Amino acid sequence: MNNQANFARTLVTCALPYANGPIHIGHLAGVYVPADIYVRYLRMRGKDVLFICGSDEHGVPITIKARAEGCSPQDIVDHYHKIIKDSFAGMGINFDIYSRTTSKLHAETASDFFKKLYDEGKFISMESEQYYDTEAGCFLADRYIVGSCPKCGHEGAYGDQCENCGSTLSPEELINPVSKLSGTTPIKKKTTHWYLPLDKYQEWLSNWILEGHQEWRSNVYGQCKSWLDSGLQPRAVSRDLDWGVPLPIPGTEGKVLYVWFDAPIGYISNTKELLPYSWEKWWKQEDTRLVHFIGKDNIVFHCIVFPSMLKAHGEYILPDNVPANEFLNLEGDKISTSRNWAVWAHEYLLDFPGKADVMRYVLTANAPETKDNDFSWKEFQMRNNSELAAIFGNFVNRAIVLTHKYFDGKIPACGELLEMDKAAFAEIKALRDSLEDNLDNFRFRDALKDAMGIARVGNKYISDAEPWKTSKSDMERTGTILNVCLQICADLAIAFEPFTPDAAERLRKMLRTGIFTGKDYRKGEEECENTIKGCEELVLEWDMLGGESILPEGWQIAPAELLFEKIEDSAIDAQLNRLAKIRAENEAAEKGA
Ligand code: 2FM
Ligand code: ZN
Repeated sequence: MNNQANFARTLVTCALPYANGPIHIGHLAGVYVPADIYVRYLRMRGKDVLFICGSDEHGVPITIKARAEGCSPQDIVDHYHKIIKDSFAGMGINFDIYSRTTSKLHAETASDFFKKLYDEGKFISMESEQYYDTEAGCFLADRYIVGSCPKCGHEGAYGDQCENCGSTLSPEELINPVSKLSGTTPIKKKTTHWYLPLDKYQEWLSNWILEGHQEWRSNVYGQCKSWLDSGLQPRAVSRDLDWGVPLPIPGTEGKVLYVWFDAPIGYISNTKELLPYSWEKWWKQEDTRLVHFIGKDNIVFHCIVFPSMLKAHGEYILPDNVPANEFLNLEGDKISTSRNWAVWAHEYLLDFPGKADVMRYVLTANAPETKDNDFSWKEFQMRNNSELAAIFGNFVNRAIVLTHKYFDGKIPACGELLEMDKAAFAEIKALRDSLEDNLDNFRFRDALKDAMGIARVGNKYISDAEPWKTSKSDMERTGTILNVCLQICADLAIAFEPFTPDAAERLRKMLRTGIFTGKDYRKGEEECENTIKGCEELVLEWDMLGGESILPEGWQIAPAELLFEKIEDSAIDAQLNRLAKIRAENEAAEKGA
């Protein structure tokens, strides 16, 4: 349910990606593209919005990668932080800040958060026996222990999961456990850890989510309900590890905050870094609406664990919505970083320069909102060639070229509207209403269909009205038809700004207009001004959508330029060949293993 009216501002966060690899289309489709669309849309409607993200730079996988590559964890995160940050910028994902959890400010913020809860007795401490490598002299994270799987007998199962049969395991279940660090058999040794007693928050969470947030997406609500129904247990918030935020308790050397404790606090520290004087307004005032965009694997942390941490702390607001997506597959198989089965954002941007919008469009048109979906290169080509180029691009091109041909590039006068003209405007107004409703309610696929619907209306209208024929006998009617077409072009320049911002900008350049894009905190100004992109003489605004005289008579437009190029088979074949090679390599490796 759209709930924005009750709030003064909206704080949008995106899951902080792990800086142990580049980002791929699954990340983009699941989290970052929908969040960016949402933020752009709200801002165009004059809402005060802050858009926060950054790299998640702690956790065991980063230490494993560093060990495998013979470098330090810091080297790993420095390398991938840059690649990820540049990929987001290239894809037009306009975070106000993209920072990192290895920053000093983050360590202080996370430590202070933990310390407050610790001092107020919000944690319980428990002693347990865990595997210890006597040769390496350290406790072993689950991923550092391998052995035989008790379920399927696979020999390389990890202490937390068997990748052969998919079972979730605990290290104690492994048969013949061996340390990955030294190859020796680990011993059991006592260690103390701190736990957040989630069981104590069970009742409060049940009320807050199951009673108070029935409007959440059914996949999110359903996952929360199943966690709550099975009963919550205390969760460890510390780890024996030398990479992370040190535990701020005397006598706990060698222990750090669990990565899932410090990472969501990254949302707070990154806000603080951007807006050192006003960050509290965004996190502590009840009139701020907090929205977390995440993938489905992060639901429990954002709906149950982090809210319990915030509640325990007592000074922070809670999320109002958590629109989590399902997963995107690639050519029928699960995306997998370890098997290199992915389309990496940075490689896409090199292979298809200037086409970030095409990928944004395809990923949104096929977004895994209610179920897992598949990305295929053939569909990518089809959506570009048959939708973006053949409908949107073709319509704009015809309208602008004919305006130059018959009216020297000036918006012609609009005469009396015929039924077909009125019908086109009425259809666009209905699409606008649906577009707003869909965007307000996180239904981005449907919203994009509405935006594309406007282009379809335009394309059909110009084909039916045939200005190239009327021009032979009736220039007044021709002018009216092109006037209607150009108003629809202006609608497209507004409606596509959240989805395909580059194309929308190129279209606005042809129309010689600017656009109102609202507040932009990227410069870090505590109280920032509204922004207008492009020509200030004629500024498009969201509320003009569906209008019948957005562009005034006599307004000079620029010559037509191609909005979307056709994508040739050779470009698609190159991608399919790359994937075929990877598939063959993976199959060979699996046979050999
Ligand atoms: O799943 C992930 O990629 C995590 N790094 C997400 C963290 S989200 C937040 F809590 F920081
Ligand atoms: Zn197994």
